[in-house]
Amino acid sequence: MPTLLHIDSSPLGDASISRHLSEEFVQNWQRRHPDGKVITRDLSANPPPVITAGWIGASFTPEEARTPEQRDTLAVSDELIAELEAADEYVIGVPMHNFTIASVLRLWIDQVARAGKTFAYVDGRPVGQLKGKKATFLVASGGVYGPGTATASYNFVEPYLRTFFGFLGVTDAQSYAAGGASVVNHGEVDRETFLHPHLAAVQQLFPAAA
Ligand SMILES: Cc1cc2nc3c(=O)[nH]c(=O)nc-3n(C[C@H](O)[C@H](O)[C@H](O)COP(=O)(O)O)c2cc1C
Repeated sequence: MPTLLHIDSSPLGDASISRHLSEEFVQNWQRRHPDGKVITRDLSANPPPVITAGWIGASFTPEEARTPEQRDTLAVSDELIAELEAADEYVIGVPMHNFTIASVLRLWIDQVARAGKTFAYVDGRPVGQLKGKKATFLVASGGVYGPGTATASYNFVEPYLRTFFGFLGVTDAQSYAAGGASVVNHGEVDRETFLHPHLAAVQQLFPAAA
C-alpha cells in the first residue's frame, strides 16, 4: 500500500502557512492514491525529546546488549524511524525560524539519525539506509530567499534538509517555498489571498497523468 508520512513542525496551528501547504499536498496525494495510507506526525503537538548522553550511549550499544533502560531511552527514536521506514514518501511542513528549521524538526532529526538504522558505515564511510523514498519540503518564511535574491545565502532551511535527507539515502527530494509571508503577519494581506498561488503551486506538484 503506498504510504505517505506527513510531518508538520509549525507551532501556529490553523494560522500556519506551512501547515496549509502540507495539508494541500496530502489531499492531492490522497486523490492520486485512493488506496494509500497517511501517517501523521505533528512535532509541535508532540515534540521529540532532546538527545542526552544516555541516548547517545544507548544508540551506540549493540541492540542485543542494550539494557531495558537503554531500550526505553531509544523507544521514541525507534517509533519515528519505523514511520520513515514504513512510508514511501514524505511531506514536511517547515516554518523558517531564525533562518533555519523549527527546533522541533531539529529534535526529530536528532532522533532519526541512527548509525546502524538509518545510516550505516560501509568501508568506513556513512551510507544512507532509506532507499527508494521521495521527500517534499514545503517551507514558509517571512522573507524571500530564492536564488538570486540578496538574502539567498541566509536560507539554511532547504540546503540543510536536502543534505540531511541525502545523508539518510533520500536523494529524490523537492522543495517549494512560500516566501514573503510577513505581509500576512503585518496584516497587509489576508491569509487566504496569500495562500492562493502557493496552494495552486502545490497542486502543480501533481500534474495530471498524460
Ligand atoms: C520564532 C520565529 C522566527 C522567525 N524567523 C524568521 C526568519 O529567520 N526569517 C524569515 O524570513 N522569517 C522568519 N519568521 C517568520 C516565519 O518564517 C513566517 O511567519 C512563516 O509563515 C512561518 O511558517 P508557519 O506560518 O507555517 O508557522 C519567524 C517567525 C517566528 C515565529
